[in-house]
Order: sequence, then C-alpha cells, then structure tokens
Amino acid sequence: MTSSTNVARRDFLRQTALAGTLAAGAVTWGAPSWTVAETPGRKIKVGLIGCGSVSNIYLPHLADCAHVELVSVCDIIPERAQRQAQRFHIPHHYPHIDHMLAGAPFELLVNTTDMQEHERLNRQALEAGRHVWSEKPMANTLAGGQELLALAARRGLRIWGAPTVVNSPQFAFMARTLAAGTLGRVAAGHADYGHQGPNWSAFFYERGGGSMPDLGVYNLTTLTGLLGPARSVVAMTSIVTPTRTVDNKGEIQVTEEDNAMLLLDHGGGVISHVQCGFNYFNPHGHDGSEEERHTIKIVGHQGTLSLVGYDWAPRAVDVASESQPSYQRLATDPGDYVWEQGASLVARCLATGEEPPFTAEHALHVCEIMIAARQSQATGRRVTLQTTFAPPRVA
Ligand SMILES: NC(=O)c1ccc[n+]([C@@H]2O[C@H](COP(=O)([O-])OP(=O)(O)OC[C@H]3O[C@@H](n4cnc5c(N)ncnc54)[C@H](O)[C@@H]3O)[C@@H](O)[C@H]2O)c1
Repeated sequence: MTSSTNVARRDFLRQTALAGTLAAGAVTWGAPSWTVAETPGRKIKVGLIGCGSVSNIYLPHLADCAHVELVSVCDIIPERAQRQAQRFHIPHHYPHIDHMLAGAPFELLVNTTDMQEHERLNRQALEAGRHVWSEKPMANTLAGGQELLALAARRGLRIWGAPTVVNSPQFAFMARTLAAGTLGRVAAGHADYGHQGPNWSAFFYERGGGSMPDLGVYNLTTLTGLLGPARSVVAMTSIVTPTRTVDNKGEIQVTEEDNAMLLLDHGGGVISHVQCGFNYFNPHGHDGSEEERHTIKIVGHQGTLSLVGYDWAPRAVDVASESQPSYQRLATDPGDYVWEQGASLVARCLATGEEPPFTAEHALHVCEIMIAARQSQATGRRVTLQTTFAPPRVA
C-alpha cells in the first residue's frame, strides 16, 4: 500500500478537527495527489457481473477506457447478460459466476449485482485470483468485509468499493479548505440524500438492502473522508412505506429501513449527521444531477463550507468565513469526475501502477458505520467502531 495508508489516525484527526489552530498551509493533507497520466500500458481484462440498471452506465464508461478490455458479462437472468454482450461487443456471457470464473480469463471483476450478493461474490472472485471493483456495499457484514481485505492481501490482489466521491474536484477543494484552517475549529457536519426510491428491483427494500447502503453511503464516505474516521455511531432507522410495487416482484413487503438518521462522533469534539431515505420528494427525482441545494455542510467557529448538489454529482462549493463573510461560490469546474468512473479508474491503476485516491479500508469503515447504525436502532445504544482508514489523497 501507499505511504498515505501509514498516516496514523491521530494525524488524520489533527488534520481536520484541529486544523483551525494551525496556520494556513501548515497541514499536509495526505500524500502527493493521485494523477491520471495517460501512460500507454497494457489493457486489463475485465468481467462484469450484474447486467441490470447500473450496468447501462458502467459498461459505456468501461468500453471507452483505454486500459480496459471487456472480456465477459454475467447475470443470473441470462438474457440480460446476452443483451449487454451484444450491445457492447463483449465476446463472452455467462448465467452464473462459476461459469464466468471458469470461462474466458479476466483479471478484474466488476460487481454490479444486488447489494445482498456483493460480499459472497467478491469473496468468490478473490478466491479465484481476481481483483475486485464492487458497487456498494463492498461487504454485508464487518467480519466478512475484514476477511475480504485479508484475503486480498494474502493473495496479492486488490479490492475496492464504490462510491468514488473522494475523487471529485469539489471533495478535494473541501479537504484543502479544511486543512488550511479556513473554518477555524471544526464543530459539525451534515449531509442528506434521498428520493422516492428505485422501482425496478425488490432487493433495495429487502433485508440487507435499505437506503443507507444505497444512498447514505455516499454522504458517509464524504463526511468521514473530510472529518476523519468515526469513533462511534448513534442511529435511528424506520420503515415509512411498508409495501411497495417493483418491476421484478410486483407488490412486496419492505423489510429493510427506508428512512435513516445517523450521528457520528469523529473525535476531537467533531460530530456529524447523515440522513437518507427512500421517501423524500425531490423535484429532480432519481436524477440528482440538477440538484442545486447544499447537501453537505461543514461548520467551524470561523467559517462554513457547503457543497452545491450531491456529492456524487457535485456542482460547486460555497464558502463563507470571518475574513470573507459573504458566500463565495468556488470549485465550479467539474473536471473529469463522474460517479461511474471507479471501475475504469482501478483498471487504469492496475495497468499503470498508479494508486487511486479511494481505499478498501475507507469503504470497509463506511460498511461498519451502516452495520453499527442498524445495531444502534435495534438496541437503542451507541455503538463503538473498530475500523479506521488513512485520509483520501487529494490534489
Ligand atoms: N441503478 C443505479 O442507478 C445505481 C447507481 C449507483 C449504484 N448502484 C448500485 O448498483 C448495484 C446494482 O443496482 P441496479 O440498480 O443495477 O440493480 P438491478 O436490479 O437493476 O441489477 C442487478 C442485476 O444483478 C443481477 N444479479 C443478482 N444476483 C446475481 C448473482 N448472484 N449473479 C449474477 N447476477 C446477479 C440481477 O439479475 C440484476 O440483473 C447496487 O449495489 C446499487 O446500489 C445502482
């Protein structure tokens, strides 16, 4: 792993919570920036499993990536795999992961299946010697997630999990602003993300699904990326809409939360709040790319910064401080960030030896927060967390 993974937790917290006590520029935020140099290199053979909705967004991005050779697709609904193979000129398609792993050789598995399937399929791929890019959540249990990381390390393989929010220029700007001490002593963060819920697949509403791993996961990644790993979690979750109608199963009982509020203790006095749900009217519907609200806010005793739009499709950052009390809209350049770029980026990293800014340890920490939030709801108690991660590397 890179030098950034050796940054101690206390350094991470000092870089954020205590940044205001340091002079501007005195803080080094992580290791040197991750660059995206287009070095000519070998192509990584990629297989994608799960040919549903999100594969329609992943596959064009992978097909356009200079470092990817799309070898195979797989879905337990075989006609979906066949259709995507035809559409994207992918030579092999399979109805089961066993056939895929035993079939045409590939190096990187891209897992875009149902959330409940991720841990099992990720493990099977690692056991078969494949690197893994997983949609969120990377794991469904903490022990299972820890085992995935240990298995990858033992086998000399890599695993990464969505989302890629720390790779946006707006995230980098917010991290640099915090590290520069512009906000003074940082006190609190807030983030929210919701819509009326997907209507195509039941798994979003079944045990192991829910609004946290589908939506809150973005905000949790952003806030822990900016404020440091959480030490403990208190949460309330609920089911607001007990029955739903979805394309693949008709009317279903909702058995996982569709409404969640989490409080995170980041240490050093910093507390943050994430709210997410599948019962949020949103004038932009499921497509939040036109969102203009502040969906992430960080406040300190001398300043505040707010992200315009969602962290997966950020538009700008508004900043106000004692020295510049009226809001300034900054970081308006979208760069080349798009939320669906993760699998292509890790393929490029595998080909070139670069290191992406997101880490498996951060993804696992966010999985632990969501699992702990469910424990907190079930027990009424605050849950202490075990995992940690190094700060994301930003430009
Ligand atoms: N749809 C989106 O806009 C979107 C955006 C970002 C992330 N995601 C994430 O992507 C993942 C998939 O979501 P989706 O909306 O594409 O769901 P989906 O239901 O449209 O697609 C999932 C596909 O996986 C297949 N599948 C399930 N279990 C499998 C198995 N064991 N082996 C092979 N195939 C299997 C299903 O048959 C289905 O075709 C989820 O983790 C979701 O949170 C979705």
